[in-house]
Amino acid sequence: MSQTFKLVQMQITSLISVLLVPFAFIQSFYSEFPGQNVWDRAYYLTDRYIVHTPKHISQRLRAEKVRYVHNGFQFQQYQGYNSYLKFKRDCVSKRSLYHKRTFTKSTKDKKYIERVKEAVKEVFPADHDDGSLAPVILRLAWHACATYNVETKLGGSNGATMRYIPELTDEGNMGLEVARAALEPVKAEFPEVTYSDLWTLAGKVAIEHMGGPEIEWIPGRYDCMDLKYMPPAGLLPFADKDANHVRTTFTRMGMTDQETVALIGAHGLGRCHKHISGWDGHWTQDPLRFSNEFYKALVSENWHQGTVPETGRRQYYNDDESLMMLNTDMELLRDPSYKFFVMEYAKNEARFFQDFAEAFAKLLELGIRRDTKGDVVLRSTYM
Ligand code: HEM
Repeated sequence: MSQTFKLVQMQITSLISVLLVPFAFIQSFYSEFPGQNVWDRAYYLTDRYIVHTPKHISQRLRAEKVRYVHNGFQFQQYQGYNSYLKFKRDCVSKRSLYHKRTFTKSTKDKKYIERVKEAVKEVFPADHDDGSLAPVILRLAWHACATYNVETKLGGSNGATMRYIPELTDEGNMGLEVARAALEPVKAEFPEVTYSDLWTLAGKVAIEHMGGPEIEWIPGRYDCMDLKYMPPAGLLPFADKDANHVRTTFTRMGMTDQETVALIGAHGLGRCHKHISGWDGHWTQDPLRFSNEFYKALVSENWHQGTVPETGRRQYYNDDESLMMLNTDMELLRDPSYKFFVMEYAKNEARFFQDFAEAFAKLLELGIRRDTKGDVVLRSTYM
C-alpha cells in the first residue's frame, strides 16, 4: 500500500517537473523584463535597440502607422507564439553581439567634440514651431537627466536610457522623438560620441545658441545597453500638479529650491503643443531667446485659468491670451520658498544666468561618477 502511494507520489512529482520545464524556459527569458506577460506584449528589434512594448503602446504605434520605423530605425515586430520564438532566436544572436559592448565609451578628443558642436548647430534651423529645434533639443537634454534618483543612483544622463522602453514610451517624453531623430545624422557622422554625450552636449549648445549663459559640459558618458540600469517610467514632473510634487521630483534628483526655480526658467523658451502634451502656447513673446522673461511674465501679467478647447487641459492665460503658464509654473508663485527666487530672478537677469548655468551643469552630471582623472566610472563597478 505504502509502495503504491510512493509510486503515485513520484509520478505526480515528475509530472509537475515536466509541466514546470516549459514554464521555467519562458520565465527565464521574460525574467529580463520583470512583471511582463508573454501574451500581452509586442516585441521590437532594431539594429541598435531591443525594446518591448506594452500592448497599448504597440496598438498606438500601429494606429499611427509607425510600426516599423521609429526614430529613423527599422523596427521588426514580433507578435504571437511562432513569432515570439523567432524573436527569441534573433535576440540570442543579437544579444551575444551586445554583450561584447554592453557599455559604449565616448570620445574625449576636444577637436572632435568641437566638430560635433558645429554639426549640432546646423541641426537647429528647421521648419518647426518658431523656426528652430533648439528648444525641443534642450528639453531632450533635461529629460535625459531628470530620471536621476539620489537614493538608488539609477537614472540620469549617463547611459542614454531613453533609447529603451520604459523611458522611450514614457508619456512625459512624448514629442522628443523629433529631437532624437534630428540628432541622428550627427550621431551617424560622429560615431565616436555616445548618445548620452551627444544629447547633453546638444542641450548645452542649444542654450548658448539661444543667447543663454555658457554651460560647463564634461565628456565621457557611456551608452548603457544593460536593462538592469533602466530607470522606471513615470519619474518626470507632471504639469497639472502642485508645489509638493515639484519639490518631491526635484529633491529626488538632488536639486535645491533655488536650483529648481532656476531650471524651470527654461520655460522662457519653446512652447507647449496640443498634439503632444495637450497644453498649448508659449510662455514668453520671444521663445527663441534665452532670458529671464519667464519670471517677469509670471509676476507682472494677470493670469486667469482656462481650458484648451481641443484637449480639455487646464492652463493659465494672460489678459490678451497671448501667453500661457502651466499649473506647476503658477505654483512657483504660490510656494513662499519658490516665490523668493522667482522675484529675485525677475529683477536680476545676471543672477538668473549665473544660477541657471550652475544648476544646468549639475543636471548634466546627474548619475555620473568620475574618477580622479575625470573618467566616468562604470555603474557595474559600484551598483
Ligand atoms: C515642474 C517641472 C516641469 C514641468 C511640469 C514641465 C512641463 C513641460 C510641458 C508640459 C511642456 C510642453 C511639452 C509639449 O507640449 O511639447 C514643456 C516644454 C518645455 N520644457 Fe518643461 N517642464 C518642467 C521643467 C522644465 C525644465 C527644468 C526645463 C529645462 C531645464 C524645461 C524645458 C522645457 C522646454 C525648453 C520646453 C519647450 C519644448 C518645445 O518647445 O518643444 N522644462 N515642459
